[in-house]
Amino acid sequence: QQASMIVDKDFILAEVDPRIYGSFIEHLGRAVYGGIYEPGHPTADMQGFRGDVLEAVRKLKVPIIRYPGGNFVSGYNWEDGVGPKAERKRNLELAWWTTETNEVGTNEFADWAKLAGSEVMMAVNLGTRGVDAARNLVEYCNHPSGSYYSDLRISHGYKEPHRFKTWCLGNEMDGPWQIGAKTAVEYGRLANETAKVMKWVDPGLELVACGSSTSGMSTFAEWEATVLDLTYDQVDYLSLHTYYNNNENDSMNFLARSMDMDQFIGSVASICDYIKAKKRSKKKLYLSLDEWNVWNTIGSSRASERWQVAPPEFEDTYTLEDALVVGCCLITLLKHADRVKIACLAQLINTIAPISTENGGPLWLQTTYYPYMHASLFGRGTVLQPIIRSPKYDSKDFTDVPYLEAISVYNEEAGEITLFAVNRHLADSLELDVNLRSFGNVRLMEHIVLEHENIKTSNTKNRPNEVVPHTRGVTQTDEGKVTARLSKASWNVIRLA
Ligand code: AHR
Repeated sequence: QQASMIVDKDFILAEVDPRIYGSFIEHLGRAVYGGIYEPGHPTADMQGFRGDVLEAVRKLKVPIIRYPGGNFVSGYNWEDGVGPKAERKRNLELAWWTTETNEVGTNEFADWAKLAGSEVMMAVNLGTRGVDAARNLVEYCNHPSGSYYSDLRISHGYKEPHRFKTWCLGNEMDGPWQIGAKTAVEYGRLANETAKVMKWVDPGLELVACGSSTSGMSTFAEWEATVLDLTYDQVDYLSLHTYYNNNENDSMNFLARSMDMDQFIGSVASICDYIKAKKRSKKKLYLSLDEWNVWNTIGSSRASERWQVAPPEFEDTYTLEDALVVGCCLITLLKHADRVKIACLAQLINTIAPISTENGGPLWLQTTYYPYMHASLFGRGTVLQPIIRSPKYDSKDFTDVPYLEAISVYNEEAGEITLFAVNRHLADSLELDVNLRSFGNVRLMEHIVLEHENIKTSNTKNRPNEVVPHTRGVTQTDEGKVTARLSKASWNVIRLA
């Protein structure tokens, strides 16, 4: 099979906002307890943060991490998670029917994120609470001193404000499963008033309004339009959430799911522009895909036994096939770099995550860790929109699916061009001709490949290195022409200088 790409310095789509390589940690399953935090673990530091987890997260260079939820935030009283640990409450946590010990709260997470080298994307509870709790939390986190909540933070040992800049106005408020779910009008009004007051406390905030929980919601599109109509002037981003699975075991259809993400982004961008036009506004609204991933255990119920502390939940074991879909989604985010400024791989540790741990035991990296890491490390700079020719196929839900999914990113400062490419073909390799006409002579730095004979192969605790990248990819360069072989069902990172 033959495919080709033309990549030119002039085909500028947009600068990559590094925050598209964000992630998410919710008080859910063992993401926090047994994930980032496990006092007594051999690698734990003085605060109880696992050192092996921190090391694996640092390698991803995650720019921003959403916290503390997720569905969890809609019943969360942030005050329960600050102050002396011995006095913290144990709560019945109603999003996931567990017991929340509150050992980790806002300040601990801020400390952990600093150690991880990540910014925090905070979320406020608009399920059971509203303007008052949200403005107090902003005051607690961001106000320097001299007020009740800022001084309370100082009394808790945090003299310097956290200065969290990006905040989510609730979570999935359209979902009947959400604690305190709302209609679009109820949510839009509340989000607008909360946003207004939060910005009065800290004018530097950037705020994200909730879009639909999935594009499959019956209220999708109408929800976005109504919410934006009510919040447009106060918010900066609209959220999109989307998860994919292969529970029907149709790999060709599954590998095409990033086309759904592509359409979803396009539709939501159009709704934003419709409201912009309706309001005769000069302001452009950007998108925050603040939950996306492959989630094969979706739909399995909450923990069978209620009120456990941090039971394992949604601990997906990812295959190569899942990693390819994650790769295609990362490429899709880059293709929309002009509109998508934040995206969070949901989630980061144990719960639907690229990093897995055992309580008291080792850590291992899932297949999905690798495309995520490669994109985060090498996908920074300017997206150049390539012209792609590829053979195509039809699947159950998609037509004209290109076997080649690809994008190019130019890092002018480093003088590097990176091509990210997935070959969706399950049986044949793709011979790819890349015309880099405006770059003159280029040399190959490396061609990284993630592949395996069997796309259903995973990394597990006992076999952690079954699917790991190698750098034996076959790429030749000759005066601005690059020829690469993309093996069947593979993720490729071709780095040129
Ligand atoms: O990421 C897991 C859950 O998925 C989140 O809590 C919720 O927002 C979404 O439905």
